[in-house]
Parts: sequence; structure tokens; C-alpha cells
Amino acid sequence: MDTTQLFSLKGRSALITGGSRGIGRMIAEGFLAQGARVYISARKAAACDQTAKELSTFGHCVSLPADVSTLEGAQALVDAYAKHEDSLDILVNNAGAAWGAPYDEFPESGWDKVVDLNLKTPFFLTQALTPMLRKAATDHLAKVINIASIDGISVNPQETYSYAASKAGLIQLTRRMALRLAQDRIVVSAIAPGAFASDMNKLARDHGDEVKERIPAGRIGLPEDMAGAAIYLASRAGDYVMGSTLVVDGGVTHAR
Ligand SMILES: NC(=O)c1ccc[n+]([C@@H]2O[C@H](COP(=O)([O-])OP(=O)(O)OC[C@H]3O[C@@H](n4cnc5c(N)ncnc54)[C@H](OP(=O)(O)O)[C@@H]3O)[C@@H](O)[C@H]2O)c1
Repeated sequence: MDTTQLFSLKGRSALITGGSRGIGRMIAEGFLAQGARVYISARKAAACDQTAKELSTFGHCVSLPADVSTLEGAQALVDAYAKHEDSLDILVNNAGAAWGAPYDEFPESGWDKVVDLNLKTPFFLTQALTPMLRKAATDHLAKVINIASIDGISVNPQETYSYAASKAGLIQLTRRMALRLAQDRIVVSAIAPGAFASDMNKLARDHGDEVKERIPAGRIGLPEDMAGAAIYLASRAGDYVMGSTLVVDGGVTHAR
């Protein structure tokens, strides 16, 4: 057995939604280091372009700004991607949003925004890209990786009703889609991150010392932790992980 190439992404193309910062950026950097051509997407074009420029130090990284919260926006991203590549090896459905509000006041807008982007978009973006994923799935398998959350597995005390429901739904959607797409040589799996410093998780970013007290590993997640999990699932190493959600949380779900 030759394990030296097991985690390689050399020659593979990857599209990462929400790749301009946070967890998407961590995954983008990891994929680039493993030799993939990486396309990142986000709404704010200037920030997305800037990140692609910075990540280009590590390899081929292209910015494709788009708002993937609507079907039209998702299709615009597919069209922009298709100008660069005629197949897609790895899709990472990472772009996400959160909303917290007390139960009695929780607004419909905080439901629709979160559930549309976190749950509806991964389904329809994957559906729109399936012909390109099928095309890539030749001598190797194509991959879809959904970025869920431990909040879809155990209950976060914060009042983030739509977020928790969207992530639990995404974990089940991952199983359902995996069973369908296996026949097309497209492997679908998910990652459930714990606390990683980002604009979304300002608590982990700005109060890491406080947050780490509740984490058995004694620290928040680092870019290498996220990149390692994503590279595993995206590469030959993760080919037999189908419909599963890999928990990357320093042990939090076992403790809370
Ligand atoms: N950080 C954590 O601790 C943690 C834990 C568990 C799960 N997660 C999950 O990890 C994923 C990434 O979160 P993060 O913490 O890295 O958040 P973040 O720092 O807020 O990054 C979100 C990314 O998504 C993009 N985005 C947001 N709305 C978009 C839209 N409508 N269309 C296209 N791009 C959009 C953002 O760029 P623009 O604003 O420019 O669009 C940005 O690139 C999310 O699915 C989140 O639920 C995070």
C-alpha cells in the first residue's frame, strides 16, 4: 500500500462556498497545499478577491463572487465556475448564516435566511453541479462535503432555533443524498465543527480563553484541524466515508 498519495488532491478542482474567510478559508488553504485548484465564493467581491489573491501564494486560487442564498445566485456561481473548468472534483457547501433571538420574538426572517442558506442551498447547488461532478468521477470519486455543526447534533444553550434545525437537517440530507449519489460515484459526507474562530463565532475568536474551558481538548479549533478533516474526506483517504458526519470539536459533544 502506497500511503504517500492517500491525502493528495493533485490535479483536482474544488469549489468552496463561503471561502473568503473563517472555516471556508481554512479548507481552501488546506486543499491548495494538497495540490488542488481551488475556487472560492462569497457575496462580498472585494473580500473574496483579496482572499484569493492571498491564497494564490499556495497554488491556483480563483475568486467567484456570488450570493448562493437563492437558486438564481447559485446558478450564477455554477455558470461562473463553468467558464474555468468543465468538471468538478470536490464541492464544499460551507457558506452559512446564524440567527439568535428569544423564543417569543424569533422572526420569520431569521428562519428563512438561515434555513435557505444552510439547508436549501446545499441541496440545489449540489443538484446544479451534479453533471460536472459526474464528469469528474472517472478514475477517482467526486466528493461533496457539507459543513454542518455540532449544534445539529447536541443542543447549544443559545436560542438559535433555525440554525440548530438547519444543521440537523443538513446532517440527514447528507445521508439521503449520499445514498442516491453513490451510484454516480459521487461521495457525500459532512463535517460538524465545534468552536473555530470566525466572524460567525465571535465568542471563539474574541474570547477563546473563556470558550476553551468548556472544551475537553483545552483549546478552540485551529485551521489545521479543519483542513485535516476536509482533506481526509476530499481525498482517496476518505472514499469509504459515505453519508457520515465527521465531528471535529475537541470533544465538546461528549461533554455538553
Ligand atoms: N466557526 C464556527 O465555530 C462554526 C462551528 C460550526 C459550524 N460552522 C459552520 O461553518 C460554516 C462557515 O462558518 P464561519 O464560522 O467560517 O462563518 P463566517 O466567518 O461568517 O464565514 C461565512 C462565509 O460564508 C459567506 N457567505 C455568507 N452568506 C453567503 C451567501 N448568501 N452567499 C455566498 N456566501 C455567503 C461569507 O462571505 P460574505 O459575507 O462575503 O458572503 C463568508 O465567506 C457555516 O456553515 C457555519 O454554520 C462554524
